Amino acid sequence: MFLFLFTIINLVFLTLFLIFQSPNQLPPSSSPTTNIIKDCSTKNDILAIEYITLNPDPPIRGHALNIKAAGNLSETVDQGSYVDVLVRLGLVQLYKGKLDLCKEVEQNFNLKCPLKKGIHKIDSDVDVPKEIPMGKYTVDAQAYTKDGHRIACLKAETVFKL
Ligand SMILES: *[C@@H]1O[C@H](CO)[C@@H](O)[C@H](O)[C@H]1NC(C)=O
Repeated sequence: MFLFLFTIINLVFLTLFLIFQSPNQLPPSSSPTTNIIKDCSTKNDILAIEYITLNPDPPIRGHALNIKAAGNLSETVDQGSYVDVLVRLGLVQLYKGKLDLCKEVEQNFNLKCPLKKGIHKIDSDVDVPKEIPMGKYTVDAQAYTKDGHRIACLKAETVFKL
């Protein structure tokens, strides 16, 4: 039903789950971190985000979106982890809920928990459907482990135009 919603949530997920295992070093980021996603994590969070880049930035309806991100997990992330997500279109709340982090990762990105500690990066393309209603979207997402240790905090804000 709210297909566009899942695209937005996926976007946030992609940035939260730094999927592909990479060797010891963080790759340099070619372009600056996007302005539309703010990292509201602190030093105490499990995930230290190095960069998030989008192309095109901001995303455009009906166009593929490339997302590159890298970060460092200080602990393994396993079953029972969850994400509190709040999505608004303008002032209207479109979605508020708790999503199973491992389940989402497995369904959307063909990955399996546990996500090991260390450096992870993603380089992924998603389709942004042209059916997404125009307007200003804001997404607040906070991820936690089963025992309530925060993994990351992200806030995204973007406007989809004609
Ligand atoms: C990743 O984080 C760990 C501590 O959690 C740290 O020891 C390590 O140096 C970090 N790696 C990089 C490349 O920043």
